[in-house]
Amino acid sequence: MSTRDLITVNGDRLWRSLMELAEIGAYDDERTGLRGVNRLALTDADAAGRRLVIGWMEQAGLAVRVDRMGNVYGRREGGDPGARPVLTGSHLDSVATAGAFDGCLGVLGGIEAIRTLNERGITTRHPLEVAIFTEEEGVRFGTDMLRSAVAAGRVSLEDAYALTDRDGVTLGAELARTGFDGPASERLDPPHAYVECHIEQGPVLANAGVEIGVVTGVQGISWQEVVIHGRAAHAGTTPTELRADAGLAAAQVVTNLRAMVDSGSYGELRATVGHLAVHPDLTNIVPARAELTVDLRNPDDGLMARAEEDLVAFLRTLEERQPGLSVTTRRMARTSHVPFDDGVRKVIAQAADDHGLAHLSLLSGAGHDAQEIAALCPTAMIFVRGEYDGISHNPREYSTPEACAHGIDVLATTLLRLAGHD
Ligand code: GLV
Ligand code: MN
Ligand code: MN
Repeated sequence: MSTRDLITVNGDRLWRSLMELAEIGAYDDERTGLRGVNRLALTDADAAGRRLVIGWMEQAGLAVRVDRMGNVYGRREGGDPGARPVLTGSHLDSVATAGAFDGCLGVLGGIEAIRTLNERGITTRHPLEVAIFTEEEGVRFGTDMLRSAVAAGRVSLEDAYALTDRDGVTLGAELARTGFDGPASERLDPPHAYVECHIEQGPVLANAGVEIGVVTGVQGISWQEVVIHGRAAHAGTTPTELRADAGLAAAQVVTNLRAMVDSGSYGELRATVGHLAVHPDLTNIVPARAELTVDLRNPDDGLMARAEEDLVAFLRTLEERQPGLSVTTRRMARTSHVPFDDGVRKVIAQAADDHGLAHLSLLSGAGHDAQEIAALCPTAMIFVRGEYDGISHNPREYSTPEACAHGIDVLATTLLRLAGHD
């Protein structure tokens, strides 16, 4: 090992940029008393955050291009003009109750890695690029990892443009309104490799007392919307047996999902109903309609498929139990288990060793842009430990400045080694 190929970034500068970005879309969370972040994709806050970060990319000397899906790429040329870039990055859009780190660490860490290489006067053989992939969260337009999925060719540009938010606004319109409907092709030429640094968003690293996670892959994700059509009726006068109560059926979906998880028949299945709304949503009316989302996660593709089939069968029983009730479903997002590249994982593990950082291998519970880019090139991820059981999608989300800096030390060293240098 030479010290020239071991990169230690400026952790204070990285932290300052994380905190400055967190002020965009910041809100005071009444329930927790904490300051959170709300930067849903392609809102004014998201656009403002992106503009701030693009400014930092330009200050770091990166040539910025925006593609037709609004993906942003900042490029640092390499010594070999024909070589494909080593790509890093993540997302800046957030859920509505976010902290400062989910996605942002990967983008700002990539820029911090570039700043450090600039200061040390190191030229890599392959170019380096830092990407901002938007609507990773999928909470505004209903499909997660959307732009990286388009970049990798899994979702078409037309289908992505036509997606709507809950107010019926299309993604295509919001892209134009915010000025992020760039000219570059939405398809990404296969990079040489992709590495993404992200907070773990779970308790594994903290419980093991380990600083760095070398991510083996991402578990399968299944999102669907379930709409239950019942019949509005008077709460006081309608006999129980004459009701088609969509609210009752929605509650039965929720408890059935939990029973499926607890049964152990679906391996490590996780199930969440994160959105549940009844209509007309009034005290003295039997709900005429219920809308809910079902988020299933499973590392085993076969057991995931079985869980999906059994859920469909359960939904049919709801129609039998309450005559007059009907159920429709719509697939929102579906990805299989994605394994990451052994070679890139080895480079990450070696970089952690060389920095004297303990590491372990783990599968990602959350979805990430890396799982889409993995279809294009050798890909892997670095996880950074989180505090408070790694809680995330919550303003309490927190990783220490030291943990963030260590993750980006490993990222920078990995990028340099993958990109090659003199
Ligand atoms: C992304 O945050 C996900 O839902 O896994
Ligand atoms: Mn994320
Ligand atoms: Mn997230």
